[in-house]
Amino acid sequence: MASLGINIDHIANVREARKTNEPDPVLLAFLAELGGADGITIHLREDRRHIQERDLRLLRETIGTRLNLEMASSQEMLNIALVSKPDMVTLVPEKREEITTEGGLQVSENKTSIKNIIEKLKLRKIPTSLFIDPDASQIEAAAEVGAKWIELHTGSYAEASWVNQKLEFSKIKESVLKAKSLGLRVNAGHGLTYQNVEPIANIVGIEELNIGHTIISRALAIGLKNAVREMKRLINNPRKEPFFGS
Ligand code: PXP
Repeated sequence: MASLGINIDHIANVREARKTNEPDPVLLAFLAELGGADGITIHLREDRRHIQERDLRLLRETIGTRLNLEMASSQEMLNIALVSKPDMVTLVPEKREEITTEGGLQVSENKTSIKNIIEKLKLRKIPTSLFIDPDASQIEAAAEVGAKWIELHTGSYAEASWVNQKLEFSKIKESVLKAKSLGLRVNAGHGLTYQNVEPIANIVGIEELNIGHTIISRALAIGLKNAVREMKRLINNPRKEPFFGS
């Protein structure tokens, strides 16, 4: 059964829309934990469009689960991670103009710089995960640079039309097997919703699902604790097949 990391960037997005002090992602992270979250994920972006360094500092002090810091592979972010010491760093690609993370990290094309960051974090006992597409060459490259964890990008599965969903699902399933065969530990996330999470939750070998937007959206309707509880029920007790139309 996979655990649930809640991505709370979306709460900070609402705060930053008014540049005020509410809603506070630090306070709401606590409610997410009360609802059953196994970890809290934040992405400190280079342009600080949502999560701020203040959030990272306070979350590091206050959360009782695990803090996963998503960040770009830059020197600035590495320095911040070395000081704040999250429980895990997830390296993600980052473009200023994107609305959310698009596509996985190109590990095979940036082996030296990624390896260097992984090693520096390892010296401080911070494990690194690489957010990658469900693609054999990227998984092999992740193992080569010394990552212990990967997070498989579920965006293509989540966005696929019903005709392609089965194929995108198979890619994730095969990628988990490939990663395990290379000794990697596997998380997954991006674009997962209350409607599409169950097939992914059924895949043996995925240790954690990182989910944000759908839970925060649902929380607006039913409250954060209940929204987290509902997602935990789906992950812990997913229906068995059939899921897909084709
Ligand atoms: N994993 C990573 C690496 C992400 O960048 C994001 C989005 O910030 C998520 C998971 C969560 O995606 P969503 O908000 O679509 O659930």
